[in-house]
Amino acid sequence: MAKYYITTPIYYASGKPHIGHAYTTVLADVLARYHTLLGDKVFFQVGTDEHGAKVATSAKKVGKTPEVFVNEITPIFSDLWQKLDIQYDRFIRTTESAHIKAVQKALQALYDKGDIYKDKYEGWYCEGCEQFKLENDLVDGKCPDHQTKPTFMSEDTYMFRMSKYASPLRDAIVSNSLQITPENRKQEVLQFLTRGLKDISISRQNQKWGIPLPWDEEHTFYVWPDAFLNYLTVLGWNGDPAVIPSSYPPDLQLMAKDILRVHATIWPTLLLALGLPLPKKFYVHGYFTSEGKKMSKAVGNVIDPQEVISTFGPEATRYLLLSSMPYGEDGDLTMEKMKAKYTADLVNGLGNILSRTLTLCHKYFSGLVPTGPDSPQDWSAKWRVYDEAMVKADSLTVLNSVIEAIKSLDQNLQENKPWEVLGAQNNSESAAAVLYRVLEALRHIAIMLKPVMPSTSDKIMTALGLGPVEHITEADKQWGGLKPGTKLGEKVHLFERKF
Ligand code: MSP
Repeated sequence: MAKYYITTPIYYASGKPHIGHAYTTVLADVLARYHTLLGDKVFFQVGTDEHGAKVATSAKKVGKTPEVFVNEITPIFSDLWQKLDIQYDRFIRTTESAHIKAVQKALQALYDKGDIYKDKYEGWYCEGCEQFKLENDLVDGKCPDHQTKPTFMSEDTYMFRMSKYASPLRDAIVSNSLQITPENRKQEVLQFLTRGLKDISISRQNQKWGIPLPWDEEHTFYVWPDAFLNYLTVLGWNGDPAVIPSSYPPDLQLMAKDILRVHATIWPTLLLALGLPLPKKFYVHGYFTSEGKKMSKAVGNVIDPQEVISTFGPEATRYLLLSSMPYGEDGDLTMEKMKAKYTADLVNGLGNILSRTLTLCHKYFSGLVPTGPDSPQDWSAKWRVYDEAMVKADSLTVLNSVIEAIKSLDQNLQENKPWEVLGAQNNSESAAAVLYRVLEALRHIAIMLKPVMPSTSDKIMTALGLGPVEHITEADKQWGGLKPGTKLGEKVHLFERKF
């Protein structure tokens, strides 16, 4: 049994969840479920990043203390994950005392070995990014991501000797022992590394909302190292580099392009300094835009995940998010596009083919799986595309492989018109063969959909007279798993026609 540890970024507890947070988390859930079905021992982490200036400022704006504020925001995230049927193993909050202690212990070890030292730091700080910006990162003096002018900061700080680890970091990325996917993102990081890796400021003197440095309580840790160590503390790590949790290192870490650079520099160099293994792989996805524009309150094109769920239901929401993000690229979302996709793929596609086929089987074959002189279909190519897309975390291709299969079944039904043949009471053998092909294909489709739309998959399996999918084995991928004569379930409507 292989282990599979998958992580999502821990989202800032500074406001309501964004549709992009939902995408990354649903994608992680699908991959975690897929690996569980393969028999792997999965650990799936989620959480919230609760310290730092961004959270403190958001709390202040509404007149609350950061503690009260994060205690209100965090449940909004966990409620959303529950609604979306996210089966994580643990939700970590960086304000948990065990996390705080472990961060202090680990960074104390780096201070003791001389990898953290005191200095003075001056620079432009963007609170939205929680990062210092170089002059050439700014456009017209503003942060291009947040459209705000960073604040100039000059203070005593503790620095992390990141430069010391530039060369092993580069080697790990070049050799793919830390694999960054897609390839263009790896090149982007390598390009960035050619500029050299400077030491970074790792503490804040004037930011009270953070973890105090154990050796200098005037300072708190910079929010990123605090946040990165969640990937260890969520597994119960206590900050001792000599004791490595069994699920560690991460097999896959998901993130969008916004936080690749910090993940590919600060996080692995901290690990190198601690003498801990590096994560195996990153998958960096794109951003959701709406009508081609960045979602923003000012433009009025923000899509609220709660609204998507109440419009389409949780299962269809999972499907719509996953199928709207092409591999490694940005995806565009609008309610109109989602409505059209819902109707085409789920109502007219999957839902319709299942209910039509069941109706015919109940009417003409006494509700049993029919049989006819049919040749086995080879699904190996479809399974290959599906499995490879799962390995790449390419959610659109996973779903396209299912939708293409449904389309070709539909075409096959249109060409053979079994209802006409059966209505005329002639050649029911050939109609039986056509219907068997649809039902058996739907068994494959239900297995493929199990990680994506678990309860829809269960409904299809019940309609086929089978139990829920509990694993994915090579035998399950062969043609003929559905036996003729099996008693089919009742007719079922998978998706309500709404638009
Ligand atoms: N707290 C840090 C991460 C620390 S991880 C150790 C952070 N939080 S965040 O709330 O800003 O979340 C960023 C992540 O949210 C992105 O990397 C992505 O996973 C998701 N998304 C937020 N907006 C997004 C889009 N518009 N589109 C797609 N996903 C994006 O950074």
